[in-house]
Amino acid sequence: MRFDHRHLLGIEPLRPDEITTILDLSDQYVDFNRRRDKHANALAGLTQINMFFENSTRTQASFELAGKRLGADVMNMAMQASSIKKGETLIDTAMTLNAMHPDLLVVRHPHSGAVDLLAQKVNCAVLNAGDGRHEHPTQALLDALTIRRAKGRLHRLSIAICGDIAHSRVARSNLLLLHKMENRIRLIGPPTLMPSGIDAFGVEVFDDMREGLQDVDVVMMLRLQKERMDGGFIPSEREYYHRYGLDAEKLGHAKDDAIVMHPGPMNRGVEIDGTLADDINRSVIQDQVEMGVAVRMAAMDLLARNLRARPTEVVA
Ligand code: NCD
Repeated sequence: MRFDHRHLLGIEPLRPDEITTILDLSDQYVDFNRRRDKHANALAGLTQINMFFENSTRTQASFELAGKRLGADVMNMAMQASSIKKGETLIDTAMTLNAMHPDLLVVRHPHSGAVDLLAQKVNCAVLNAGDGRHEHPTQALLDALTIRRAKGRLHRLSIAICGDIAHSRVARSNLLLLHKMENRIRLIGPPTLMPSGIDAFGVEVFDDMREGLQDVDVVMMLRLQKERMDGGFIPSEREYYHRYGLDAEKLGHAKDDAIVMHPGPMNRGVEIDGTLADDINRSVIQDQVEMGVAVRMAAMDLLARNLRARPTEVVA
């Protein structure tokens, strides 16, 4: 098994064989998590601190569970109530935590690049749990695991990523990963929500759902990231649902066994029909949540092996 990284900051620096290493180990943790006794020691003795500067339900919960199941001491910092409010900078906060000797730091931050910056200032392993519209590597890995288990492979699939591509770190990390694994990627959404220059990336771009979904194996929906819009991107939510919302009729253009994905949280009736989202014959949305815990266990396990292989660094 080769995974020679100190941090997990994004999909961009990972090689295809390293992605496969993470997914193979994640498969083992999926089985482990289905057991009654879910306690292992891969992170025993290590301290994991979760710093979420943006709200999160599933990502934070699954990083916390992942750490606890592997025996780490896990602390959740309530960043809303922290010294940040009193004007402390991100770096000051990081340096303060660093002095408490954490081994794993899980960080979500609203600014793209903030997690990379923080990783340069601390001497523990840093995992990016989403930075602005830049990357969300564990989401792309859990999506990849879900696809690989549902389709039996992770290459030469036709995959549509639909909706608010421009504001989405999930789309960006998925695009990078699925491209590295040699899949055909189609991006579908209104031109106002499509990043400029995206066609240079070797993807096909559509603004019509029925055309874009034609014969795809996987339909990945995205949330409309209203908090990252300063108005004027879509005419109305009703109009958006009519044109870009996934329902059974539009899904009819994809392959008969195409799976439906969504990273959550969902806006039912805006980007996806609620009944379709709950249809266990088509939707793998709950599988994605299950895979999330396993992927985070695998990622922290691999980073911890590298940590233990290095001599202890003494912090001044
Ligand atoms: C995503 C995120 O925060 O980037 N959610 C998640 O991690 N499950 C997607 C989103 O917020 O729409």
